[in-house]
Amino acid sequence: MDSTAFVQQLLRENDELLARLRPAQTLIAEAGGDLAPKRLLRFALKNEIEATEIAALWIPSAGSTRLKLALARQAGDEARHYRLIEERLGELGDDLAGFDPLASGYSPLFQYLGGLKTDVERVAAGQFTREAIALVKNAQFIELCEKAGDDKTARLYREVIQPDERFHHELGARFLAELAADDGSQALARVARLRTLELAEELQSLAYERQKIHHAPGC
Ligand SMILES: [Fe+2]
Ligand SMILES: [Fe+2]
Repeated sequence: MDSTAFVQQLLRENDELLARLRPAQTLIAEAGGDLAPKRLLRFALKNEIEATEIAALWIPSAGSTRLKLALARQAGDEARHYRLIEERLGELGDDLAGFDPLASGYSPLFQYLGGLKTDVERVAAGQFTREAIALVKNAQFIELCEKAGDDKTARLYREVIQPDERFHHELGARFLAELAADDGSQALARVARLRTLELAEELQSLAYERQKIHHAPGC
């Protein structure tokens, strides 16, 4: 299949696959736990620092200068998101004293991404898929913030963070269209994308089981 058609096919499939990340309405109604945006924003910090590190990790071995620069730009964006969220948490009364977003270690998704060796797998998993997941999760989080009356956090996500995450996803789609040029690379991209979705789903259910967390933003 030609690579543009391949990417178009993946984009069409995305809606169906990403729907699995939407918590059922009944689950939302029944869920206990504190879902104040303030609590969920601490989870966002872990996502943002992991996204910063993974993009930076891939720069030295990326196969083209264009990809290196795209990854560097993404690392900078994710680091900026971290700072903005930290600032917002401060305004909400959480000074984050002694908080280490990586205190419980890197997530299984980070470990998987860190082990990917080829650009086509990295772009399929890290930008094209992880950022598509972030777009879905952030849209849910924005809705939650609005319901909770936290318009400022909603605005931060809607106006600043989401446009960046969309840009990262589109960057992923563009590089994928270049790199997934034959059957072999398309197969690698498919596997990396599915594994990323599975790990995101697992993380989401773990967060729910252990801490009654859902609607946490992505990055
Ligand atoms: Fe991102
Ligand atoms: Fe981000």
